[in-house]
Amino acid sequence: MSRQTIIAGNWKMNTRSDSAVALAKGVVAAVGETPTVEVVLCPPSVYLSSVADAVAGTSVQLGAQNLYAAEDGAFTGEVNASMLTDVGCGFVILGHSERRALMGETDADVSKKLHAALAGNLVPIVCVGETLEEREAGKMEEVIETQVRGSLAGLDEIRAAGIVVAYEPVWAIGTGKTASPEQAEEVHALIRKLLGEMFTTDVAAQIRIQYGGSVKPGNAKELLGQPNIDGALVGGASLKADDFAGIIAAG
Ligand code: G3P
Repeated sequence: MSRQTIIAGNWKMNTRSDSAVALAKGVVAAVGETPTVEVVLCPPSVYLSSVADAVAGTSVQLGAQNLYAAEDGAFTGEVNASMLTDVGCGFVILGHSERRALMGETDADVSKKLHAALAGNLVPIVCVGETLEEREAGKMEEVIETQVRGSLAGLDEIRAAGIVVAYEPVWAIGTGKTASPEQAEEVHALIRKLLGEMFTTDVAAQIRIQYGGSVKPGNAKELLGQPNIDGALVGGASLKADDFAGIIAAG
């Protein structure tokens, strides 16, 4: 089963209105008109509209970094799926390790957001990943299984096929320490096996699994060349159009 490579840039809490638009335009220019991979930019929510304008009419797509799982109402400071699609988002990152660690998001929260995203016609990019401490304690498999099963709880086979999972080992995020292609492939294969158990092997074969954690132009090709690595979720290197374009070119 062939899965289209998906390269997403998670800008996290970076850029300003001018630099966000300039970066988006730089990516559009670097990507060209017919990229073979799917490209998604995920700017901070306040810049979604201006980045949407900058990528309008191109193949570059827009994603958010989070959502709040509720209909409109009294939820001060929050943004829901309907608002994200309204400004042009097609994707939303959910359960990023920074949100799990800093905002206390649990697998149950991620599952709730996943269902809100799907109900709002957004493709969820569901992040999972172990800390260094967990890996060194031999708990990687257990942590990944708990996060995958918990974050995707209640998902049916039909909708499962369209989601994206991102494996981001916490110890590789923003540290310059990338998982080796073999280490990453081992976990991606484990995630696909779990997805096969939760859904069907056919559905699992359709789900794209991105790797995230210090992906750069220099290591992207080898990572993306692994059989179960279907793309990259890029942090730091997505903030420079040339670096991000280099990763896209490796796909
Ligand atoms: O979501 C992307 C991410 O957490 C990886 O960040 O800076 O290591 O590429 P970075």
